[in-house]
Amino acid sequence: MKKLASQQQIICGLDIGTTKIAAVIAERADGGEPQILGMGCVPSRGLRRGVVVNLEHTASDIEEAVQFAEDSAGVAVDRVWAGLAGEHVRSVNSRGVIPVSKIRSEPTGEVTDIDVERVVEAAKAIALPMDRRILHVLPQEFIVDSECGIRAPIGMAGVRLEADVHIVTCAISSAQNIITCCKRAGLAVQNLVLEPLASADGVLTWDERELGVVLLDFGGGTTDLAVFHNGTIRHTAVIGYGGDYITRDIAMGLRTPVDSAEKIKIEHGAAHHRAIAQNEYLTIPGVGGREPQEMSRSMLVSIIGPRVEEILTMARDELKQSRTLDHIGAGVVLTGGGASMPGMAEIAEEIFTMPVRIGAPNALMPDNMPGARPKYATAVGLIRYADKLMQSENSALPDGLNWPGRTTGKVKKWLSEIF
Ligand SMILES: Nc1ncnc2c1ncn2[C@@H]1O[C@H](COP(=O)(O)OP(=O)(O)OP(=O)(O)O)[C@@H](O)[C@H]1O
Ligand SMILES: [Mg+2]
Repeated sequence: MKKLASQQQIICGLDIGTTKIAAVIAERADGGEPQILGMGCVPSRGLRRGVVVNLEHTASDIEEAVQFAEDSAGVAVDRVWAGLAGEHVRSVNSRGVIPVSKIRSEPTGEVTDIDVERVVEAAKAIALPMDRRILHVLPQEFIVDSECGIRAPIGMAGVRLEADVHIVTCAISSAQNIITCCKRAGLAVQNLVLEPLASADGVLTWDERELGVVLLDFGGGTTDLAVFHNGTIRHTAVIGYGGDYITRDIAMGLRTPVDSAEKIKIEHGAAHHRAIAQNEYLTIPGVGGREPQEMSRSMLVSIIGPRVEEILTMARDELKQSRTLDHIGAGVVLTGGGASMPGMAEIAEEIFTMPVRIGAPNALMPDNMPGARPKYATAVGLIRYADKLMQSENSALPDGLNWPGRTTGKVKKWLSEIF
């Protein structure tokens, strides 16, 4: 019988992806990085384009992945930090303004944590349809009177306090389905985290966030984006296309079943001709009694390349529209399972015309552990994200509320989310 973990010290990150469900269990360390104790990963059967379409399958896949993680970690968990993605996710930048509360009769006031709470509340006041809720409110910067770019306004003198925040919203139904699946798997959701934010914590460096960086998580069903500049989040988006589309193209192009197309992609696929040698040949297994056929690897690149280009161009267009491309000093960091394909960095460099590196979560996972692969960026990133938030108080769901987006009661938590 495994011992149930002390919830203060143990974190379980659960990446509910379109192609795999990965659970990572880690122990928090005083003043250091959390230590990974174990992980579990199983194929995902109940999601499409990042959202749950089959509760039963997803609940049982979650249960299995967490069980594997518990077995390898030697501890049991009853709550998780779960990732959320899908095309229903939207983000918007907003500004709130309030007068700084004055002390007695002095002409200027001093910004208190209550002022920060009030100004973020004011910035949160956006029109939301009934079926959507706020998932994250991430402070970007504060402005005291006309002084911009302030990260820690508490204690500053002034009369007017402004806050620029990045607000992420999602469909209530999609978020609730994740919570329901976890519940059926015997797990409470401690918090829901937008997947690209978690992946960013898994693979980005502090310098990259300061200089300006685009994080691209190329998954199976979605491609997730997060843009950072001056250390804070500038834009987030989820595009409903990923590696599964490449697999389908291969299956159609080579008239082979999807399973075999996926295998061919993983073993021989490449996104750019520069990543392969000339005159490389591979054998495609025959279907329905047909003979196996020989084909050049370059032909496979001709099938994969255009689809990758299309998806990356969508990501670039999204960034152009958000006007964040001008502030990218550190280039693009590509992660997620798709980033493991040879030639991805080359093709991304051509489309974004900036340096591209492949990001894997190996700061927490040593290189030789399976979890150091790009596809585990979200699961490992959730651990870091959770640890950061748990360092500040009150990250748990308020009593009686089944909605993580409403956990914005404490200033410290907002600030720790990003600064
Ligand atoms: N070595 C590889 N070469 C090419 N593609 C790969 C490789 N490894 C994984 N992939 C592809 O990466 C995709 C899965 O990536 P990942 O595990 O990050 O997705 P996911 O998190 O399950 O899905 P999503 O985030 O879209 O919901 C699949 O399409 C898979 O074929
Ligand atoms: Mg993913």
